[in-house]
Parts: sequence; C-alpha cells; structure tokens
Amino acid sequence: MHNDKLKQSISVVKKKNIFFLTDEKGKPKKFSPWLGDIFSFLYDIIMERSVFPEKFGADIVKHYDILKHELKDLRNKDILEIATGSGSAVYFLNRHNRYTGVDISTGLLKMAFRRFRDYGFKDAAFYNARAEDLPFRDHCFDFAMCNLSLNFFQDIELFVKDLRRVMIPGSLFFCSVPVPERKPEQSRIRGTLYPERALKTIFQKHGFRFDSKPYLNGALLYFSATAE
Ligand SMILES: C[S@@+](CC[C@H](N)C(=O)[O-])C[C@H]1O[C@@H](n2cnc3c(N)ncnc32)[C@H](O)[C@@H]1O
Repeated sequence: MHNDKLKQSISVVKKKNIFFLTDEKGKPKKFSPWLGDIFSFLYDIIMERSVFPEKFGADIVKHYDILKHELKDLRNKDILEIATGSGSAVYFLNRHNRYTGVDISTGLLKMAFRRFRDYGFKDAAFYNARAEDLPFRDHCFDFAMCNLSLNFFQDIELFVKDLRRVMIPGSLFFCSVPVPERKPEQSRIRGTLYPERALKTIFQKHGFRFDSKPYLNGALLYFSATAE
C-alpha cells in the first residue's frame, strides 16, 4: 500500500517487514550503519544513560514532552520520519497517522517495526534507505520529521534538497538536533554539528522557512521548517 509513494525508478523487496531498495540485479542495497546491527538492542540504553545525560547534557523526558507537545495536533497525515532509529516516535506521535520511516540501520528498523505494531499503528512502512537519497515521489508527504540525526548525515545539503522535493508545499518539517553553541564544553558528540545559523541558511537556500523553537534542553535545538 505504501509502495504508491515510491519513485517509478525504484524497486524494492520486502524482507522481515522492512523494504529494501534493490540494485539492477534485484539484490538489496546495503548501507553501513553507525551502530552495527547486532548492537541495535543496546541503542535505547545508550541514548538514555549516556547520550542524553552525558553528551547532550539534556533531559530525555523533557525531550519527549517537547515532541509530544509540538506534534499533538497531528492526525491523518502522511508522515515521513527520516532516521527512524528504534521507533521512539511511538512515544509522541498519534497512531491515527500514516507513517513511513527511513533509516540505514536494518537492526533499528526491525525494532521500530515491532514497536509501531505494539503501539497499534496500522500500515506503518519502514525503508532501509539513506536520508540523502529518498526513494519517494515528489510532494507525497504532508509532514516530516527528523530527531537527533542530522549530525550523522554525510551530506546535509543533499538531504535538505531531497526533503524539500518529497514534501507537499506548505507542509511542515520538525527537527531536534545537537548544535555546537549549546554543547557542554567537555562533551564529544558524534558526526558534524552545524550551528543554528548554518542550519537556517541551508534550509532557506532549499526553499524552507526556518523557525527555531524557544525550548532549552542541553545541546539540543528544536526547530521547524515550512516547505514554501
Ligand atoms: C541517534 S539516532 C536517532 C534515532 C531516532 N530518530 C531517535 O530519536 O531515537 C541516529 C539515527 O540516524 C540513522 N542514520 C545515520 N545516518 C543516516 C543516513 N544517512 N540516512 C538515514 N539514516 C541515517 C542511524 O541509523 C540512527 O538510527
């Protein structure tokens, strides 16, 4: 059912509830996740006990409260989440939405599938794909989000450009991301950290209106970007 969102040039194979993009020989394309698939079961513990308190200097409960508050009015939307992780979106997203998740980690996507099923989401679809090369048609999502992941993408400009392509004009993208100017001094956060002003410039360049939110939670910046 979700395949109606795929670009015509893309073919996929479904294995263990996850869609894999295939190459010209029909073989699943492989990506290298930052956390090896066999360690996926540790992901939630690492986030709660190490990343949030130590690296972000942030409160994980406050993080979910903020997301819950910001997304509480979303109903019956076609939602795209880029970098689904282990499926924490079930904690703050209403299940009366159509959900599509993308991540390069199959281990985390499998956890996400189970979590979405257990929380009663119907027809949630999970794709093993890269943020910088989304396999979807132009203008087919009316909400998008990405949490705690922008810093991991190899090419943020490519991501923002492709994000704008798949979003319906006027729709909203919501994001939480660690930024260097809020980072605790001693902390080393993985990936590339972009200051708020750089993020604003990139999103504006690719056709978004950028609005940062006033929340304070350690290294995290919360912002929305409207596809113009
Ligand atoms: C810190 S986790 C955040 C996951 C989830 N959004 C959350 O809030 O818990 C970062 C995620 O980004 C994914 N990721 C990293 N690079 C990616 C890329 N280029 N495209 C898609 N996902 C990517 C990782 O596999 C991982 O699931």
